[in-house]
Amino acid sequence: MKLIEDLDVRGKTVFVRVDFNVPLSESGEIRNDTRIRASLPTIRFLSEHGAKLILASHLGRPKKFDPAASLRPAAVRLAELLGRKVEMAPDVIGPDVDRLKDGLRDGDIVLLENVRFQPGETKNDPELAREFARGVDVFVNDAFGSSHRAHASVVGVAGLVPAKAAGYLLKKEVEFLGKVLHPVKPFTAVLGGAKTEDKIPVIESLLDKADDILIGGAMAYTFLAAQGKGVGKSLVEPDKFDLALGIMKKAADRGVRLRLPSDHALAPSIDSGVIDRMTGEYPFPDVLLGVDIGPKTIATYSAIIGRAKTVFWNGPLGVFENPAFAEGTMQIAQAVAASPAVSIIGGGDSIAAVAKAGVGDRIGHISTGGGASLEFIAKGTLPGLDALEG
Ligand code: 3PG
Repeated sequence: MKLIEDLDVRGKTVFVRVDFNVPLSESGEIRNDTRIRASLPTIRFLSEHGAKLILASHLGRPKKFDPAASLRPAAVRLAELLGRKVEMAPDVIGPDVDRLKDGLRDGDIVLLENVRFQPGETKNDPELAREFARGVDVFVNDAFGSSHRAHASVVGVAGLVPAKAAGYLLKKEVEFLGKVLHPVKPFTAVLGGAKTEDKIPVIESLLDKADDILIGGAMAYTFLAAQGKGVGKSLVEPDKFDLALGIMKKAADRGVRLRLPSDHALAPSIDSGVIDRMTGEYPFPDVLLGVDIGPKTIATYSAIIGRAKTVFWNGPLGVFENPAFAEGTMQIAQAVAASPAVSIIGGGDSIAAVAKAGVGDRIGHISTGGGASLEFIAKGTLPGLDALEG
């Protein structure tokens, strides 16, 4: 994979796929600009080296033009961060956009409108990819968070330009997440969150590499219920019981210590904000559900994380959005930060948890990719990375 610094970009038109899919408030303000900040090294390098920059990104999942999904706020924030002008294109393609592109001077930056305003984007439509590639000398992918999408601005365009390269963010992500593919042992994976199905391919691939897999979040209740334990009204996915049992068997066969919480914080509802009790006993009362890992589990998991040389964490351990149920997730964030291990965090919720715990600067790598980081770990590559080869 070539890097931007391997190419001479002066005077060249460079199409850069970034991931500016940032959370917006209802009034359209950017709530978290991490992804825009993360793309600055690539944009600065290219602009300072005299490239004519066309930036492209998606925002949300619009199927057609939608002013609420405009990238204009991202253009404004990018201009503030760079301290230089960023031209906002009125559309994704078309004559007005072409005029803007033609008028670019060396170092200039234009941001196209949300590529998903074009229905061809998610279909990887060759027509749209050709439109993106027209007049472009170099394609740069710096959108790690979108590289699991075989879309026109990520994959299609890459095959239609004279040269292509990875940006600095993409390179950094692949380097750090690569440490999970080839971990220094002992390797501990901490997996939480609600959706068992989304995590199955990752757990499967981690069974070949991890020494300890620590399960938390609502997913834990699916595993416990699959073993026949009564978990009250905890969130469970009964159609995933077989998968969960299969994973536990594979882990046991391979000598991987797959651990489930040994105690739990129970509450009458997610909205109650009140813990009814801590328990390690089953069945849970019918009127209660698990909302967090309990103190014994926190201690066990933290000790394992403390002994690890590589830690990968994805997904909160409880309903951490509610401060009353955030203790487990916050303590695990502290344990990951305090561990001497190389620590890698992927997924939007875990990133928010780390920010809430105030330990972001003590984590080895916080991935800008949610789905992309999980798919990279499960498969070892992504469509957007493959498209940069050759
Ligand atoms: C993300 O936020 O994970 C990426 O920007 C990809 O967005 P998508 O899931 O809508 O493709």
